[in-house]
Amino acid sequence: MSLNPGRLFMINKMVRALPGTRMFGLKRKLLAFAGARLGANVRIMGLKVMGPFDLQVGDNTFIGEDTFLVGAIDSRIKIGRDCDISSRVTIVTGTHELNPEGEKMAGEGFGKDIVIGNGVWIGIGSIILGGVTIGNRAIIGAGSVVTKDVPDYCVVAGNPAKIIKKYDNVLKIWEKA
Ligand SMILES: CC(C)(COP(=O)(O)OP(=O)(O)OC[C@H]1O[C@@H](n2cnc3c(N)ncnc32)[C@H](O)[C@@H]1OP(=O)(O)O)[C@@H](O)C(=O)NCCC(=O)NCCS
Repeated sequence: MSLNPGRLFMINKMVRALPGTRMFGLKRKLLAFAGARLGANVRIMGLKVMGPFDLQVGDNTFIGEDTFLVGAIDSRIKIGRDCDISSRVTIVTGTHELNPEGEKMAGEGFGKDIVIGNGVWIGIGSIILGGVTIGNRAIIGAGSVVTKDVPDYCVVAGNPAKIIKKYDNVLKIWEKA
């Protein structure tokens, strides 16, 4: 189910006018009215959602202040359960064909789905680009630009984001990359 951009216009303004740390139930209802599918206990501080994409957020996920979700038509942003998405994070499915022979380098626009697993922590100011899948319990360091898939239990950081360490879930130890 796609978001309704006409409803989003008003709902973005309403959500951002509400106090960051309260009224999570009302924010959920407003975004659901615009077509978002939000699980139980999704806590949103303040975000802006733009575009007619399919938005799904799992139970108990937290989304910080000034986070920006932008999606092209026919694309999808799926965020798992128990995630912590910090403030000023941008998640953008849309991009353009590279168009060196045309008037504009930004050729035809299109979207690539983004899937974020369960228990993921995304650090402040990060950017997640279209086509990326972030594995379960991954960590995205502050200010990262994620251009490629991130495996489960990995910590990535930087621009472009690279693996800095990985948690071995069998030995219960961190391994440096
Ligand atoms: C990714 C993060 C969790 C890693 O923490 P950590 O395991 O303690 O990692 P370290 O501090 O030991 O850093 C390991 C290496 O990664 C680098 N690094 C850590 N975070 C980085 C980042 N965000 N961007 C680029 N490099 C980073 C360090 O400089 C260090 O490099 P070195 O080995 O060359 O010295 C942490 O740095 C981070 O970004 N936290 C997010 C903070 C945030 O967003 N807070 C908002 C509230 S939710």
